[in-house]
Amino acid sequence: MHKFDPRLKTNMDGLVNQILDRIDPKYFESKESTFLDPSMGGGQFIKEVESRLREYGHSDANISKRVFGFAENLLDIGWARATHGLVGNLTTDKYLEQDMHFTVTLGNPPFSDTGEKKQGRGRTKNLYPAFYRWAIEHSEVVAMIMPMTHNKIMTSHNSLLREANDIVPVDNTVFKGVNMDMWTVYAGTGRKKKFQFNWKDLMEEKNDVFFKGKLNVGTQNYMLGREKQKRGDATIFWKVTKQGVTVRYHPKKEIPDAWFLPSTGYCVLMPQQIQKYGWSETVIVKMDGNQVGGNGMSIAHFETKKDAKAFVEYMKTDSFIDQAHKVVGGQGCMTMGALRMIDLSN
Ligand SMILES: C[S@@+](CC[C@H](N)C(=O)[O-])C[C@H]1O[C@@H](n2cnc3c(N)ncnc32)[C@H](O)[C@@H]1O
Repeated sequence: MHKFDPRLKTNMDGLVNQILDRIDPKYFESKESTFLDPSMGGGQFIKEVESRLREYGHSDANISKRVFGFAENLLDIGWARATHGLVGNLTTDKYLEQDMHFTVTLGNPPFSDTGEKKQGRGRTKNLYPAFYRWAIEHSEVVAMIMPMTHNKIMTSHNSLLREANDIVPVDNTVFKGVNMDMWTVYAGTGRKKKFQFNWKDLMEEKNDVFFKGKLNVGTQNYMLGREKQKRGDATIFWKVTKQGVTVRYHPKKEIPDAWFLPSTGYCVLMPQQIQKYGWSETVIVKMDGNQVGGNGMSIAHFETKKDAKAFVEYMKTDSFIDQAHKVVGGQGCMTMGALRMIDLSN
């Protein structure tokens, strides 16, 4: 029996509209541009695309000819049509086997072929790179939600991402029960609009701990940074493993000011995934104003080294570890939302 995907019920209107806002309005003004969601599921992207086209004055007859959605099964299509009154062309044809061209391809492709259900060991086949590759090869403009990854296996995918126009972190609290950091990758829009992230926004008032989960700071292209340092480079904290912290580099002048870590005090760097027994490694680094957090780790900032050390000790306690395991997802991925749920008062 078809199991209903709980994500279909997630209300994503805000997120979808943020994504549509970053697409050049000329595509919505046009009477001819075509739109595709290759993994339309419950049709939340299609719904907003159709409603935006209507706002631009296009008739349903016109919209029905140029909005397309591919779904895995007919039940999703039936549900989406009935719930949102969609008028586009919705089909279960295999997306990746089609040789069609679309003006705008957008959506939230399936990440892996087992969903995100599998825990722990065993690698699942990643589907989203194939969706993304097809999209950039068959459309003028692409806007796609994908999991953040810097996994070595994904090297070839990362080289495609380097070509993207823009990479914007997604507020993952939209996806209830999905504890995974994601970004929206925009390609082909011809605009290099910089996303501004302000580290200071995360500072909690009257609290010297400020904390960001797997850092979204700097999820622009440069976060897929290079290994060799050159003059004028900023240091990107990349990954924390048992061997310590790995860094990458990128020209400082190309990084927005807001993305730098504080220039004073100390940061505790932690891996993005917490183990059963706690963090496999934590590293305390002195801040010098030239450093940026990568998204492959969690970071907490303190004014003094003593506080940073006390925090590292606190994170070894059962109280911290128990709370951490209650808030992280199946993969043990510590996101900002998860970190914020941990009681740090002691
Ligand atoms: C992350 S969800 C996206 C949900 C969608 N944005 C919505 O509004 O419901 C991924 C969707 O891709 C669908 N899917 C999985 N494999 C697919 C395939 N080969 N072709 C088309 N859709 C597929 C799944 O059924 C699921 O609904």
